Amino acid sequence: MSQWWRDAVIYQVYPRSFADSDGDGVGDLPGIRTRLPYLRDLGVDAVWLSPFFLSPQADAGYDVTDYRVVDPMFGTVADAEALIGDAHDLGLRVIVDLVPNHSSSEHDWFRRALADGPGSAFRKRYHFRRGVGDRPPNDWQSLFGGPAWTRLADGEWYLHLFAPEQPDFNWDHPAVADEFRSVLRFWLDLGVDGFRIDVAHGLVKGADECFDQDGVHDIYRQWRRILDEYPGERIGVAEAWAPTLDRVANYVRPDELHQAFNFRYLAADWEAGTQRQVISESIAAMAAVGAPPTWVLSSHDVPRHQTRLMRAVTGEVAGRRAEPVDPAAGLRRARAATLLMLALPGSAYLYQGEELGLPEVLDLPDSARQDPAFHRATGQDGYRDGCRVPLPWSGDAPPYGFGPGDSWLPQPPDWAGLTVAAQEGVPGSTLSLYRRALSVRRALSGDLAWLDSPPGVLAFRRGDFACIVNLGVTSVPIDGSVLLASSPVDDVLPPDTTIWRTLR
Ligand code: NOJ
Repeated sequence: MSQWWRDAVIYQVYPRSFADSDGDGVGDLPGIRTRLPYLRDLGVDAVWLSPFFLSPQADAGYDVTDYRVVDPMFGTVADAEALIGDAHDLGLRVIVDLVPNHSSSEHDWFRRALADGPGSAFRKRYHFRRGVGDRPPNDWQSLFGGPAWTRLADGEWYLHLFAPEQPDFNWDHPAVADEFRSVLRFWLDLGVDGFRIDVAHGLVKGADECFDQDGVHDIYRQWRRILDEYPGERIGVAEAWAPTLDRVANYVRPDELHQAFNFRYLAADWEAGTQRQVISESIAAMAAVGAPPTWVLSSHDVPRHQTRLMRAVTGEVAGRRAEPVDPAAGLRRARAATLLMLALPGSAYLYQGEELGLPEVLDLPDSARQDPAFHRATGQDGYRDGCRVPLPWSGDAPPYGFGPGDSWLPQPPDWAGLTVAAQEGVPGSTLSLYRRALSVRRALSGDLAWLDSPPGVLAFRRGDFACIVNLGVTSVPIDGSVLLASSPVDDVLPPDTTIWRTLR
């Protein structure tokens, strides 16, 4: 078995912001299809698509009305099938996003639960409760701010750990488990190579706690058996926010899922000791269960790392408006961080646009913002529109080749130099750096061993390959020949720079 996923580079496509084929300002599956050769040339192994299922888009598609239907905004199931086919022809695997913790409030089951009233069969598929006097059943808070319970006119409350339009399923109900086993098979039969599992730690609720309950693992054991029935090593990736790396590792035990996102790494400050510690602990925690470590710097939920890494936020990845940073300094640090990440053993996740060096967009007008967390104002996920601005492909002005129409979020007027067309084949561009790094990375193998290094500098080897990162404030001398550098170097390694080299 190839175990392709153990060191795969998986590129996250955010469908509404990738490429628009029909001019409605929202990206779509046919748009993604036309750009698949770009992803092949970039050198990634797999594409993870954020949800494109039927949805009223209260949370950008993480509120699903029908798990077997593609939202007309994105295309059709036939478009999805064609996309999967094209990707496979190009040697790319396709991972889709499964949202099993909650549905949309427009899901047929929830509508029937509302219509049929207290005590009805469909209410049992969600969490409906009586309150305590005028107050909700307990004090759980929505991750988007405010109480996690909404009261209905009939007096009952229902649970939504996210927006009120996202009611949580009751996973103790057998119909819920049956339905998701069937949904898995629907997409596996269509040819997908795996699933990214949204809020994987939330499905089973305890009496006092709603996250990371032990019972959730039975679900993933069942799903693993389904994945293993299919040829070609289909995988499951957990979006599991657990309090420790050891708890995260529980999701990737040999009979459960294949990978789990590493949010501790994503949240780590750009400081040598912190980075070294989180890297070592991540590798050890996953090795203990035989799973590969994973690494991620950006996603559709957090400020882009070019902006985020310039702030010392001590473990906080979101939850407040990102502050402006010097773009050149931010890009320099982001490129250094990326070369560090891509040298690590295990699997790496890229978020669309980071290969172009896109910054977080900080000045979106409030009227353009669509993140429900923004509109609920206190949400811990903060303000996520700034990393979701549609990609610039070509041209000098918005929509920069994103599509024939506008773009659903406005693009900055100064992105002409960041388009794919502007960077393609240009030595030193961020796109060229990513391409080269992904190509060199294919030859890397073996465990990580730390090397001695001056304060503020991290150095490690894998076989005769070495990666050296200067996270400090002064340059340090280097010798030997450099394979790849995140920024120009001569005989010194400047701050916020990473080099790859061969050891003799
Ligand atoms: C995690 C997703 O990544 C995020 O975008 C979404 O809002 C929540 N889960 C709720 O589904």
